[in-house]
Amino acid sequence: MQQERLLKVLVIGDLGVGKTSIIKRYVHQVFSQHYRATIGVDFALKVLHWDHKTVVRLQLWDIAGQERYGNMTRVYYREAVGALVVFDMTRLSTFQAILKWKGDLDSKVPDFQERERERERERGHLGSRPPFIDSMQVALSNGRPVPAVLLANKCDQRRNSLCPKLPKLENFSKEYGFVGWYETSAKDNTNIDAAITCLVKNIMSVE
Ligand code: GTP
Ligand code: MG
Repeated sequence: MQQERLLKVLVIGDLGVGKTSIIKRYVHQVFSQHYRATIGVDFALKVLHWDHKTVVRLQLWDIAGQERYGNMTRVYYREAVGALVVFDMTRLSTFQAILKWKGDLDSKVPDFQERERERERERGHLGSRPPFIDSMQVALSNGRPVPAVLLANKCDQRRNSLCPKLPKLENFSKEYGFVGWYETSAKDNTNIDAAITCLVKNIMSVE
């Protein structure tokens, strides 16, 4: 029997780093130079035939950079099981904001855990629930943060890249608890699939 899993994934990072472009590339295979700031939040869905018995419905929450870390309403974090944290490798301020976005994400995880426990209590022994909720809870209450992948976007603009001046992303991402990092380009379609697959693999492996 096929099992279906709905995964809510947040895409966060500063204004104009390319969150919407990454999602459009991943879901619709298109790219536009035209910049239109996202207002509030947008949604996109991608259905993945994960393995012979699992269909993953990946719900991508495209959060406006304008929402700003810290101010982002907890509603957005609710039930999120993973995040892509994006910066623009040609703009230092967007890299500096990464830790604020990540911190915001991590600090709101307890809310997620608490809600899951509440639901547990509400359900008592009667309710049925997808088995992954159980294992997520165990993992998260063991202190594991919501899986997040770091994306250094616009890597097609190598000439303007700040990366030589940044800390080594390999060390940086480990130190701050990212499950992986990628240099990406929504424009050239570089590593978009790889980054999202890495995240989904990580989420699924919590099982
Ligand atoms: P907000 O919705 O305001 O938070 O911005 P965003 O993070 O969704 O950025 P968006 O995807 O709208 O992209 C901003 C600008 O960067 C647009 O002009 C895009 O065309 C451009 N852009 C996005 N990704 C890339 C990329 O990989 N390479 C290049 N060269 N430009 C990109
Ligand atoms: Mg956007």
